[in-house]
Amino acid sequence: MSSAITIKTKPTIRRTSISFNRLTSIEIPSVLSIEERNSDYPWSQGQFTTSIENSKNLCYCLNLNGQTIGYLISMLALDTADILNIGIDPDFKRQGHGRALLKHLIEELRKRHIGEILLEVRIGNKSAIQFYKKQGFKEISVRNNYYMKNSKNQSQGEDGIIMSIKIPSKEIKNVL
Ligand SMILES: CC(C)(COP(=O)(O)OP(=O)(O)OC[C@H]1O[C@@H](n2cnc3c(N)ncnc32)[C@H](O)[C@@H]1OP(=O)(O)O)[C@@H](O)C(=O)NCCC(=O)NCCS
Repeated sequence: MSSAITIKTKPTIRRTSISFNRLTSIEIPSVLSIEERNSDYPWSQGQFTTSIENSKNLCYCLNLNGQTIGYLISMLALDTADILNIGIDPDFKRQGHGRALLKHLIEELRKRHIGEILLEVRIGNKSAIQFYKKQGFKEISVRNNYYMKNSKNQSQGEDGIIMSIKIPSKEIKNVL
């Protein structure tokens, strides 16, 4: 007769640590790696460096368990802010990190009494457009051939969609 021995082990609990920090030159290599995997027309190291050095910009990175997996570059202009770039590591997309990064920016803008965010996105970047719409951004205009090169056909330009969202002065539950 065989007898089974049951050994009880404690379940391993892996804590997840997420933090939003000011983007510095230390994170730029990780950010460039994400940018290059995400985009046909990636920003250069120089563009990121210039952005973090500009005092009018708010630039953040999102760190997950010590690894930089996202970034957001925004520029302040009086009572509005422009999102110049946002990216999430392809291995971590669709896990709510883009939304969390945007929420972090909105909280920072609210503290500064900034009431609107504007951005421009390639008409062909359907996933980003869907992302922004889901967060409450509305399309406000189109700039014809704003981008010199089209991702699908480099001899043609590509339209840019301008989108905006108003920031309520107080946080409203379930709304960014
Ligand atoms: C756009 C981007 C930042 C979104 O980041 P993300 O962390 O994947 O997005 P989230 O997980 O927070 O998505 C929130 C919601 O947005 C929508 N969304 C996000 N990505 C989407 C996609 N590829 N297609 C359709 N809807 C999408 C969904 O409604 C999603 O919620 P759900 O997953 O519960 O359905 C990311 O896809 C990215 O880095 N893209 C490449 C860089 C880029 O294009 N930047 C924009 C330049 S203007």
